[in-house]
Amino acid sequence: MDAARVPSARTLSVARPPCVLKLDGLAAGKGVWVCRTQDELDSALEVAQAFDQPFHVEELLEGPELSVFALAASEAAVAFPPARDYKRIGDGDTGPNTGGMGSFSPLPDVADEDSQEILETVHLPVLRELARRGTPFHGLLYAGLMRTEDGLRVIEFNCRFGDPETQSLLPRLEGDLLPLLAGDLSQQPEVGDRAAVTVVVSGGEYPERSDQGTPIAGVEAAEAAGALVFHAGTALHDGQLVTNGGRILNVVGTGATVAEARSAAYEAAAHIDFAGMHFRTDIAAGG
Ligand code: GLY
Repeated sequence: MDAARVPSARTLSVARPPCVLKLDGLAAGKGVWVCRTQDELDSALEVAQAFDQPFHVEELLEGPELSVFALAASEAAVAFPPARDYKRIGDGDTGPNTGGMGSFSPLPDVADEDSQEILETVHLPVLRELARRGTPFHGLLYAGLMRTEDGLRVIEFNCRFGDPETQSLLPRLEGDLLPLLAGDLSQQPEVGDRAAVTVVVSGGEYPERSDQGTPIAGVEAAEAAGALVFHAGTALHDGQLVTNGGRILNVVGTGATVAEARSAAYEAAAHIDFAGMHFRTDIAAGG
């Protein structure tokens, strides 16, 4: 990012709170420690040093997060509208991190149209730098961003669509996505006016443990109420839908506004029923 002049967190030479410790490698989403106090830093250093890989220390950034996805073909790219996900298991962003407990789009604080500027200041410089190094990138470049007091900063990149942001983006798209996915970037994604809210329904012990074999009822009723239901951790046992993972279902409501989409998502989620099921009740509450 420094080489591409893309704004990110500054690397610190000394570990002193407040700061963030990050493992320098893949860690199944468990390689980042936010340290606001010396105690948090001490225990993070202990855990990080137990991994057999280098780690580094960054300044702690604060602010709301957003995700912007771009489809790229080397130095050309088109961006999708911003979406926001909710990473903690509990309402009010409490409890452990998860793969994502909900999402929504559009955002109240970053307009759909702002994706173009984010593409130009974040994705395109990185794509040009990759091409310059002889490693051009083709595919989906996901920028995880934070809106700090000093402007947007990149928190992470992924080379895939985001989950569960994509569940809230796809219902907003009009037109054919396939040419874009096939690398024809002559058209921008067509985005409709509707809003979408995704509520993730997880097993009761997620993220510590996944859930297997618990019968699930109510998916048809949720769909009949107008929601899209994307399966994440389900299986069919003798024709019965059962749980088979941590995050089980994504219930997506759409509407003219985020508030309408939110009501639609929660009304539909109320039809889903399985023992121990959990979902956050504050997805898009400020949207
Ligand atoms: N929503 C977070 C991720 O897909 O990594």
